[in-house]
Amino acid sequence: MELSKIAISLKPSATLKLNELAGKLKSEGRDIIHLGGGEPEFDLPELAVKKSIEKLNSKRVKYTPTSGIKSLKKQISDYFKEIYHFSPDLENIVVSTGAKQCIYNFLMATVNPGDEVIILAPYWVSYTEMVSMVYGTPVVVRPSQGLIPSLDDILNHITSNTKAIMINSPNNPSGLVYPDSLVENLIDYCSRNNIYLLFDSIYDQLIIDDITPKPIFSYIEDIEKSTAVFINGVSKSFAMTGFRIGFSVASKEISKAMTKIQAQITSCPSELSQEASVGALIEGRKFTIKLLEDLKRKRDLLFNEISKIKKAKFQKSQATFYGFIDFSEYEKDSSKLSSILIEKTGVVTVPGIEFGMDGYLRISFCGSDSDIVKGVGRIRDFLDGGGL
Ligand SMILES: Cc1ncc(COP(=O)(O)O)c(C=O)c1O
Repeated sequence: MELSKIAISLKPSATLKLNELAGKLKSEGRDIIHLGGGEPEFDLPELAVKKSIEKLNSKRVKYTPTSGIKSLKKQISDYFKEIYHFSPDLENIVVSTGAKQCIYNFLMATVNPGDEVIILAPYWVSYTEMVSMVYGTPVVVRPSQGLIPSLDDILNHITSNTKAIMINSPNNPSGLVYPDSLVENLIDYCSRNNIYLLFDSIYDQLIIDDITPKPIFSYIEDIEKSTAVFINGVSKSFAMTGFRIGFSVASKEISKAMTKIQAQITSCPSELSQEASVGALIEGRKFTIKLLEDLKRKRDLLFNEISKIKKAKFQKSQATFYGFIDFSEYEKDSSKLSSILIEKTGVVTVPGIEFGMDGYLRISFCGSDSDIVKGVGRIRDFLDGGGL
Protein backbone atom coordinates (compact mmCIF):
# COMPACT_ATOMS: atom_id res chain seq x y z
CA MET A 1 0.00 0.00 0.00
CA GLU A 2 1.23 3.45 -0.83
CA LEU A 3 0.97 6.38 1.55
CA SER A 4 -0.58 9.63 0.32
CA LYS A 5 1.46 11.96 -1.89
CA ILE A 6 1.29 14.58 0.88
CA ALA A 7 2.61 12.19 3.51
CA ILE A 8 5.45 11.18 1.21
CA SER A 9 6.39 14.69 0.14
CA LEU A 10 6.19 16.49 3.53
CA LYS A 11 9.50 17.38 5.11
CA PRO A 12 9.74 16.50 8.80
CA SER A 13 9.78 19.63 11.00
CA ALA A 14 13.47 20.66 11.01
CA THR A 15 13.36 22.11 14.50
CA LEU A 16 11.56 19.14 16.04
CA LYS A 17 14.03 16.81 14.30
CA LEU A 18 16.95 18.73 15.82
CA ASN A 19 15.34 18.58 19.27
CA GLU A 20 15.17 14.80 18.91
CA LEU A 21 18.75 14.61 17.68
CA ALA A 22 20.01 16.74 20.60
CA GLY A 23 18.11 14.52 23.06
CA LYS A 24 19.50 11.35 21.46
CA LEU A 25 23.11 12.57 21.46
CA LYS A 26 22.78 13.69 25.09
CA SER A 27 21.40 10.30 26.11
CA GLU A 28 24.46 8.74 24.44
CA GLY A 29 26.64 10.78 26.74
CA ARG A 30 27.72 13.52 24.28
CA ASP A 31 28.29 16.99 25.72
CA ILE A 32 25.58 18.80 23.73
CA ILE A 33 24.65 22.48 23.90
CA HIS A 34 21.26 23.08 22.31
CA LEU A 35 21.08 26.55 20.76
CA GLY A 36 18.30 25.52 18.37
CA GLY A 37 15.37 25.68 20.79
CA GLY A 38 12.08 27.48 20.26
CA GLU A 39 10.69 27.94 23.77
CA PRO A 40 11.62 30.13 26.72
CA GLU A 41 13.30 28.40 29.66
CA PHE A 42 10.99 30.15 32.06
CA ASP A 43 8.50 29.05 34.71
CA LEU A 44 4.77 29.33 33.97
CA PRO A 45 2.71 32.35 35.04
CA GLU A 46 1.53 31.77 38.63
CA LEU A 47 -2.11 32.30 37.66
CA ALA A 48 -1.85 29.72 34.89
CA VAL A 49 -0.73 27.18 37.48
CA LYS A 50 -3.48 28.24 39.92
CA LYS A 51 -6.23 28.01 37.31
CA SER A 52 -4.99 24.59 36.14
CA ILE A 53 -5.05 23.25 39.71
CA GLU A 54 -8.52 24.66 40.33
CA LYS A 55 -9.76 22.99 37.16
CA LEU A 56 -8.21 19.65 38.06
CA ASN A 57 -9.68 19.87 41.56
CA SER A 58 -13.12 20.25 40.01
CA LYS A 59 -12.53 16.71 38.65
CA ARG A 60 -14.30 17.72 35.45
CA VAL A 61 -12.32 18.30 32.27
CA LYS A 62 -14.61 17.97 29.26
CA TYR A 63 -15.19 19.02 25.67
CA THR A 64 -15.83 22.74 25.27
CA PRO A 65 -17.51 24.76 22.49
CA THR A 66 -15.36 24.28 19.37
CA SER A 67 -14.11 27.87 19.19
CA GLY A 68 -13.26 28.06 22.92
CA ILE A 69 -14.74 28.82 26.33
CA LYS A 70 -16.42 32.17 26.86
CA SER A 71 -14.20 33.25 29.78
CA LEU A 72 -11.06 32.79 27.65
CA LYS A 73 -12.56 34.57 24.66
CA LYS A 74 -13.50 37.51 26.90
CA GLN A 75 -9.96 37.58 28.25
CA ILE A 76 -8.56 37.49 24.70
CA SER A 77 -10.83 40.37 23.71
CA ASP A 78 -9.52 42.40 26.68
CA TYR A 79 -5.95 41.42 25.80
CA PHE A 80 -6.45 42.67 22.22
CA LYS A 81 -7.94 45.87 23.63
CA GLU A 82 -4.85 46.39 25.76
CA ILE A 83 -2.25 45.59 23.10
CA TYR A 84 -3.98 46.66 19.88
CA HIS A 85 -6.63 49.08 21.19
CA PHE A 86 -9.32 46.96 19.56
CA SER A 87 -11.87 44.68 21.26
CA PRO A 88 -12.99 41.89 18.93
CA ASP A 89 -16.46 40.41 19.50
CA LEU A 90 -16.38 36.88 20.85
CA GLU A 91 -17.56 35.62 17.42
CA ASN A 92 -14.40 37.07 15.87
CA ILE A 93 -12.23 34.82 18.04
CA VAL A 94 -11.33 31.15 17.55
CA VAL A 95 -9.21 29.43 20.20
CA SER A 96 -7.18 26.53 18.81
CA THR A 97 -4.65 23.87 19.74
CA GLY A 98 -1.62 26.15 19.38
CA ALA A 99 -1.06 28.97 16.93
CA LYS A 100 -0.06 26.22 14.53
CA GLN A 101 -3.63 24.98 14.34
CA CYS A 102 -4.88 28.54 13.82
CA ILE A 103 -2.63 28.76 10.76
CA TYR A 104 -3.80 25.41 9.47
CA ASN A 105 -7.47 26.38 10.03
CA PHE A 106 -6.82 29.59 8.11
CA LEU A 107 -5.23 27.78 5.16
CA MET A 108 -7.97 25.13 5.06
CA ALA A 109 -10.60 27.86 5.16
CA THR A 110 -9.16 30.00 2.38
CA VAL A 111 -6.95 28.06 -0.03
CA ASN A 112 -8.10 25.87 -2.93
CA PRO A 113 -5.80 23.37 -4.68
CA GLY A 114 -3.37 25.27 -6.89
CA ASP A 115 -3.90 28.67 -5.23
CA GLU A 116 -0.66 30.52 -4.58
CA VAL A 117 0.26 31.62 -1.08
CA ILE A 118 3.03 34.17 -0.68
CA ILE A 119 5.49 33.51 2.12
CA LEU A 120 8.15 36.04 3.08
CA ALA A 121 11.65 34.71 3.71
CA PRO A 122 13.11 34.18 6.14
CA TYR A 123 9.95 32.38 7.25
CA TRP A 124 8.95 30.02 10.03
CA VAL A 125 9.81 26.47 8.92
CA SER A 126 6.22 25.19 8.96
CA TYR A 127 4.65 27.77 6.62
CA THR A 128 5.66 26.18 3.32
CA GLU A 129 4.77 22.64 4.40
CA MET A 130 1.39 23.75 5.77
CA VAL A 131 0.52 25.42 2.47
CA SER A 132 1.43 22.19 0.67
CA MET A 133 -0.80 20.25 3.07
CA VAL A 134 -3.85 22.10 1.74
CA TYR A 135 -2.65 21.56 -1.87
CA GLY A 136 -1.71 25.23 -2.24
CA THR A 137 1.48 26.41 -3.92
CA PRO A 138 3.93 28.20 -1.62
CA VAL A 139 5.55 31.18 -3.37
CA VAL A 140 8.62 32.28 -1.44
CA VAL A 141 9.68 35.94 -1.62
CA ARG A 142 13.29 36.57 -0.60
CA PRO A 143 14.40 40.07 0.40
CA SER A 144 16.38 41.92 -2.26
CA GLN A 145 18.30 43.47 0.64
CA GLY A 146 18.69 42.59 4.31
CA LEU A 147 16.24 40.28 6.08
CA ILE A 148 12.87 41.88 5.32
CA PRO A 149 11.36 41.81 1.80
CA SER A 150 10.26 45.21 0.52
CA LEU A 151 6.75 45.93 -0.76
CA ASP A 152 8.14 45.79 -4.33
CA ASP A 153 9.79 42.40 -3.68
CA ILE A 154 6.36 41.12 -2.62
CA LEU A 155 4.28 42.79 -5.34
CA ASN A 156 6.62 41.34 -7.99
CA HIS A 157 5.40 37.85 -6.99
CA ILE A 158 1.66 38.53 -7.08
CA THR A 159 -0.21 36.76 -9.86
CA SER A 160 -3.88 36.21 -10.65
CA ASN A 161 -3.58 32.97 -8.62
CA THR A 162 -2.41 34.68 -5.42
CA LYS A 163 -4.92 33.80 -2.72
CA ALA A 164 -3.10 34.77 0.46
CA ILE A 165 0.01 36.34 1.94
CA MET A 166 1.48 35.12 5.22
CA ILE A 167 3.56 37.47 7.34
CA ASN A 168 5.20 37.02 10.70
CA SER A 169 6.39 40.01 12.68
CA PRO A 170 8.28 40.05 15.03
CA ASN A 171 9.90 37.45 12.87
CA ASN A 172 11.11 33.94 13.53
CA PRO A 173 14.00 33.50 12.66
CA SER A 174 15.35 37.03 12.03
CA GLY A 175 14.22 38.53 15.35
CA LEU A 176 13.33 41.70 13.42
CA VAL A 177 10.14 43.77 13.58
CA TYR A 178 8.65 44.64 10.17
CA PRO A 179 8.36 48.40 9.55
CA ASP A 180 4.90 49.93 10.11
CA SER A 181 4.81 51.22 6.54
CA LEU A 182 5.24 47.71 5.08
CA VAL A 183 2.49 46.28 7.31
CA GLU A 184 0.12 49.13 6.50
CA ASN A 185 0.77 48.87 2.75
CA LEU A 186 0.27 45.11 2.76
CA ILE A 187 -3.00 45.24 4.70
CA ASP A 188 -4.23 47.95 2.38
CA TYR A 189 -3.09 46.12 -0.78
CA CYS A 190 -4.67 42.83 0.31
CA SER A 191 -8.00 44.39 1.19
CA ARG A 192 -8.17 46.29 -2.14
CA ASN A 193 -7.24 43.20 -4.14
CA ASN A 194 -9.23 40.51 -2.33
CA ILE A 195 -6.18 38.65 -1.06
CA TYR A 196 -6.24 37.07 2.39
CA LEU A 197 -3.52 38.20 4.77
CA LEU A 198 -2.38 36.06 7.65
CA PHE A 199 -0.60 38.18 10.24
CA ASP A 200 1.22 35.93 12.70
CA SER A 201 2.13 38.06 15.69
CA ILE A 202 2.90 35.26 18.15
CA TYR A 203 6.06 37.11 19.31
CA ASP A 204 4.52 40.58 19.62
CA GLN A 205 4.92 40.73 23.40
CA LEU A 206 8.59 39.83 23.06
CA ILE A 207 9.90 43.09 21.57
CA ILE A 208 13.13 43.77 23.46
CA ASP A 209 14.16 47.09 21.88
CA ASP A 210 12.35 50.33 22.36
CA ILE A 211 10.09 49.90 19.32
CA THR A 212 6.31 50.18 19.50
CA PRO A 213 4.74 49.07 16.23
CA LYS A 214 1.53 50.89 15.36
CA PRO A 215 -1.35 48.65 16.52
CA ILE A 216 -2.27 46.53 13.48
CA PHE A 217 -5.98 47.09 13.94
CA SER A 218 -5.50 50.82 13.42
CA TYR A 219 -5.12 50.00 9.70
CA ILE A 220 -8.48 48.27 9.55
CA GLU A 221 -11.73 50.19 9.32
CA ASP A 222 -14.13 47.29 9.63
CA ILE A 223 -12.98 43.82 10.66
CA GLU A 224 -16.08 42.29 9.04
CA LYS A 225 -14.96 43.55 5.64
CA SER A 226 -11.29 42.78 6.20
CA THR A 227 -9.38 39.91 4.59
CA ALA A 228 -6.84 39.91 7.43
CA VAL A 229 -6.56 37.15 10.01
CA PHE A 230 -4.48 37.76 13.16
CA ILE A 231 -2.77 34.95 15.02
CA ASN A 232 -1.48 35.03 18.56
CA GLY A 233 -1.27 32.69 21.53
CA VAL A 234 0.24 31.93 24.91
CA SER A 235 3.06 29.61 23.78
CA LYS A 236 5.84 32.14 23.46
CA SER A 237 4.83 35.26 25.45
CA PHE A 238 3.73 33.21 28.46
CA ALA A 239 6.25 30.35 28.17
CA MET A 240 3.32 27.92 27.77
CA THR A 241 4.30 25.92 24.68
CA GLY A 242 3.15 22.64 26.27
CA PHE A 243 -0.41 23.88 26.84
CA ARG A 244 -1.00 24.22 23.08
CA ILE A 245 -3.25 27.27 23.03
CA GLY A 246 -3.34 29.77 20.17
CA PHE A 247 -6.06 32.13 18.98
CA SER A 248 -7.13 33.86 15.81
CA VAL A 249 -9.09 37.07 15.30
CA ALA A 250 -10.83 37.63 11.97
CA SER A 251 -14.18 38.56 10.46
CA LYS A 252 -17.11 36.49 11.71
CA GLU A 253 -17.40 34.86 8.28
CA ILE A 254 -13.79 33.67 8.25
CA SER A 255 -13.95 32.71 11.95
CA LYS A 256 -17.05 30.61 11.33
CA ALA A 257 -15.33 28.74 8.49
CA MET A 258 -12.22 28.16 10.64
CA THR A 259 -14.45 26.87 13.47
CA LYS A 260 -16.17 24.40 11.12
CA ILE A 261 -12.79 23.02 10.10
CA GLN A 262 -11.52 22.82 13.67
CA ALA A 263 -14.67 20.97 14.74
CA GLN A 264 -13.75 18.12 12.40
CA ILE A 265 -10.08 18.01 13.36
CA THR A 266 -9.74 18.47 17.13
CA SER A 267 -13.36 19.20 18.25
CA CYS A 268 -12.00 21.89 20.59
CA PRO A 269 -8.81 22.87 22.38
CA SER A 270 -8.12 21.24 25.76
CA GLU A 271 -10.37 22.65 28.48
CA LEU A 272 -7.58 22.45 31.06
CA SER A 273 -5.24 24.46 28.84
CA GLN A 274 -7.93 27.02 28.13
CA GLU A 275 -8.44 27.59 31.87
CA ALA A 276 -4.68 27.94 32.33
CA SER A 277 -4.61 30.49 29.51
CA VAL A 278 -7.29 32.59 31.21
CA GLY A 279 -4.89 32.80 34.17
CA ALA A 280 -1.93 33.70 31.94
CA LEU A 281 -3.80 36.52 30.20
CA ILE A 282 -5.02 37.94 33.53
CA GLU A 283 -1.40 38.00 34.73
CA GLY A 284 -0.53 39.65 31.40
CA ARG A 285 2.18 42.31 31.36
CA LYS A 286 3.28 41.50 34.91
CA PHE A 287 4.58 38.22 33.50
CA THR A 288 5.83 39.32 30.08
CA ILE A 289 7.88 42.18 31.56
CA LYS A 290 9.89 39.69 33.64
CA LEU A 291 10.34 37.42 30.64
CA LEU A 292 11.48 40.38 28.52
CA GLU A 293 14.10 41.47 31.06
CA ASP A 294 15.54 37.96 30.94
CA LEU A 295 15.50 37.89 27.14
CA LYS A 296 17.15 41.29 26.84
CA ARG A 297 20.10 40.16 28.95
CA LYS A 298 20.40 36.94 26.95
CA ARG A 299 20.08 38.73 23.60
CA ASP A 300 22.90 41.11 24.52
CA LEU A 301 25.00 38.23 25.76
CA LEU A 302 24.48 36.28 22.52
CA PHE A 303 25.35 39.17 20.20
CA ASN A 304 28.32 40.16 22.32
CA GLU A 305 29.68 36.63 21.89
CA ILE A 306 28.75 36.44 18.18
CA SER A 307 30.57 39.71 17.50
CA LYS A 308 33.79 37.95 18.51
CA ILE A 309 33.45 35.53 15.58
CA LYS A 310 35.56 37.17 12.91
CA LYS A 311 33.53 36.65 9.74
CA ALA A 312 30.00 36.28 11.17
CA LYS A 313 27.67 39.04 9.96
CA PHE A 314 24.41 39.96 11.62
CA GLN A 315 21.60 42.40 12.21
CA LYS A 316 21.02 42.34 15.97
CA SER A 317 17.61 40.90 16.88
CA GLN A 318 15.08 43.43 18.10
CA ALA A 319 12.62 40.86 19.43
CA THR A 320 11.83 37.10 19.90
CA PHE A 321 14.56 34.82 21.24
CA TYR A 322 16.34 34.07 17.97
CA GLY A 323 19.37 35.48 16.21
CA PHE A 324 19.80 34.86 12.47
CA ILE A 325 23.49 35.01 11.69
CA ASP A 326 25.21 35.04 8.30
CA PHE A 327 28.04 32.49 8.33
CA SER A 328 28.37 32.32 4.55
CA GLU A 329 31.98 33.51 4.64
CA TYR A 330 32.78 30.28 6.45
CA GLU A 331 30.39 27.94 4.60
CA LYS A 332 27.56 28.75 2.21
CA ASP A 333 25.71 25.45 2.72
CA SER A 334 23.92 25.99 6.05
CA SER A 335 22.82 22.35 6.43
CA LYS A 336 26.39 21.22 6.02
CA LEU A 337 27.67 23.83 8.47
CA SER A 338 25.02 22.97 11.07
CA SER A 339 25.84 19.24 10.81
CA ILE A 340 29.58 19.88 11.10
CA LEU A 341 29.01 22.05 14.18
CA ILE A 342 26.95 19.34 15.90
CA GLU A 343 29.53 16.72 15.01
CA LYS A 344 32.68 18.68 15.89
CA THR A 345 31.55 21.01 18.68
CA GLY A 346 28.35 19.46 20.06
CA VAL A 347 26.46 22.73 19.46
CA VAL A 348 22.99 22.52 17.90
CA THR A 349 21.88 25.36 15.61
CA VAL A 350 19.20 25.42 12.90
CA PRO A 351 20.31 25.76 9.24
CA GLY A 352 19.07 28.93 7.54
CA ILE A 353 17.94 26.95 4.48
CA GLU A 354 15.06 25.61 6.60
CA PHE A 355 13.83 29.22 6.82
CA GLY A 356 14.35 29.80 3.11
CA MET A 357 17.77 31.51 3.33
CA ASP A 358 20.99 29.55 2.97
CA GLY A 359 24.28 30.73 4.47
CA TYR A 360 22.65 31.58 7.80
CA LEU A 361 22.22 29.74 11.09
CA ARG A 362 19.46 30.42 13.59
CA ILE A 363 20.88 30.59 17.09
CA SER A 364 18.41 30.82 19.97
CA PHE A 365 18.94 32.79 23.15
CA CYS A 366 16.13 31.23 25.16
CA GLY A 367 18.42 28.78 27.01
CA SER A 368 20.76 29.42 29.93
CA ASP A 369 23.38 32.20 29.98
CA SER A 370 26.17 29.66 30.35
CA ASP A 371 24.95 27.63 27.34
CA ILE A 372 24.91 30.79 25.23
CA VAL A 373 28.47 31.76 26.19
CA LYS A 374 29.88 28.23 26.03
CA GLY A 375 28.02 27.29 22.84
CA VAL A 376 28.99 30.38 20.85
CA GLY A 377 32.52 30.10 22.27
CA ARG A 378 32.83 26.58 20.87
CA ILE A 379 31.57 27.74 17.44
CA ARG A 380 34.10 30.60 17.45
CA ASP A 381 37.02 28.39 18.51
CA PHE A 382 36.13 25.92 15.78
CA LEU A 383 35.53 28.39 12.93
CA ASP A 384 38.32 30.86 13.71
CA GLY A 385 40.68 28.10 14.76
CA GLY A 386 40.63 26.79 11.18
CA GLY A 387 38.30 23.86 11.90
CA LEU A 388 36.66 23.98 8.47
C1 LIG B 1 6.18 32.19 13.79
C2 LIG B 1 5.51 31.12 14.55
N1 LIG B 1 4.19 30.97 14.41
C3 LIG B 1 3.53 29.99 15.07
C4 LIG B 1 4.20 29.12 15.90
C5 LIG B 1 3.41 28.02 16.58
O1 LIG B 1 3.08 28.33 17.87
P1 LIG B 1 2.30 27.26 18.77
O2 LIG B 1 3.33 26.58 19.60
O3 LIG B 1 1.36 28.10 19.60
O4 LIG B 1 1.59 26.33 17.89
C6 LIG B 1 5.58 29.23 16.07
C7 LIG B 1 6.32 28.28 16.91
O5 LIG B 1 7.52 28.16 16.87
C8 LIG B 1 6.26 30.26 15.39
O6 LIG B 1 7.57 30.45 15.51
